[in-house]
Amino acid sequence: MKLAWTEQLSVGNAVIDSDHRNLINMVNDVTHAIGARNCHALAQAFEQLENWLHVHFANEEHITRSIKFDFSKHRPAQQYSLKELQHLRSELMAKDGLWSDGAVAHFAHFLKNWMIDSHITKLDMQMKPVLQALDYEFWPSWVEGEINHAAGRTANLYMQLSDMPMLCTD
Ligand SMILES: [Fe+2]
Repeated sequence: MKLAWTEQLSVGNAVIDSDHRNLINMVNDVTHAIGARNCHALAQAFEQLENWLHVHFANEEHITRSIKFDFSKHRPAQQYSLKELQHLRSELMAKDGLWSDGAVAHFAHFLKNWMIDSHITKLDMQMKPVLQALDYEFWPSWVEGEINHAAGRTANLYMQLSDMPMLCTD
């Protein structure tokens, strides 16, 4: 079953909500590729999801810094979240498209938990009380140091994920 963004998942900020909508669509692409046993489509879907995830994490950090939200719990949770995605990707690629029906259902369930339950509901919802006090379109302007920080952080995260194997054989 496809995942869908609903108003209940809103964290009270247009940029973060829009990122989440896009990420949910990308999780659906990953799940679809798993169900279709299409290793190449899966590799592409993972790459797109990972790239957007880096941008999204930088956006969240940029917003929370500007509103003095304590990001100390968010950063390790983001790292853990990326590790879980890496683990899933390794597990999937190791089987090269030969996934049983049970495995397909397991991975779909995992991805729903990962995106909706863990990331949005448990983690990002903590920002909602603070974000709701601001304009829904709130977006702080970047300053140079922050741009460099976000770019470095994004490059660092990208390196971690690009080390993962992509082993489609045909
Ligand atoms: Fe998020």
